[in-house]
Amino acid sequence: MDTLTDLLREAAVVVGFTGAGVSTESGIPDFRSPGGVWTRYDPRSFELDRYVADASVRRESWQMRREFFATSVAPNPAHRAFAALEGAGRSPGVITQNIDGLHQEAGSRRVVELHGTAREVMCLGERPVGAPDGCGWRSPYTWAFERLDAGEDDPRCPRCGGLVKSATVSFGQQLFPGVVEEAVGLVERADLLVVAGSSLQVYPAAALPLHALDHGARLVIVNDEETPFDDVADLVVRGRAGEVLGPAVTAALS
Ligand code: APR
Repeated sequence: MDTLTDLLREAAVVVGFTGAGVSTESGIPDFRSPGGVWTRYDPRSFELDRYVADASVRRESWQMRREFFATSVAPNPAHRAFAALEGAGRSPGVITQNIDGLHQEAGSRRVVELHGTAREVMCLGERPVGAPDGCGWRSPYTWAFERLDAGEDDPRCPRCGGLVKSATVSFGQQLFPGVVEEAVGLVERADLLVVAGSSLQVYPAAALPLHALDHGARLVIVNDEETPFDDVADLVVRGRAGEVLGPAVTAALS
């Protein structure tokens, strides 16, 4: 903890890179820990081409999203730590793989959402292959829940009749244009990359820590289990993101 506080204090430009593990203390399960989402649902069911081809996959996805939003969740000290660093002028922003919008709720103004956001829905078009091919319509996710409550179990785009999905990046779907470039731009400005709550198994996201090291940044990993990058990190803190980052950032900014 003292080393982490020192690294945060000495760094001129801290960039955060987070995964689902920063939201578990807010009550949202991660994906690969025991009890995680992919231990209860088959990820192949949620590939883009399955979603496009199979109305039952769309119905199951809407059901999952309703469960996700049914549990009232709030940011935890990990989200607030990154927002505090940005608010203190020590961080240009945070890159996240998460789709829950909790970094924004905690006050982070610059959040690069590598895998999109569940807080919005978007038009996919009629037969998208590998990427949305819709009319550009987007709306808050509540629009979809209102349609579902009105009895439509497969809501369609109100503008062009295309398929509708949350504005997230599914397996088999390309990342949204410009997002990786924005994340790389942040990483290249960092002299300290703080990775928190990620198993670092999904690419291209998991390539970012190495890119930071290649650009001379120091790498800290805060995670409650091993990651493939522990041996190249300058510091690994084995612990809960909120319990570690909250106090460390408070101390570093005091
Ligand atoms: N504090 C610290 N680490 C935690 C905490 C916590 N409170 N809770 C969980 N972890 C750790 C887990 O041990 C695990 O190593 O966070 C990591 C979460 O890993 P994953 O569940 O694989 O989540 P993530 O790395 O974000 O997955 C990446 O995979 O399924 C896709 O698109 C999805 O964005 C996701 C991507």
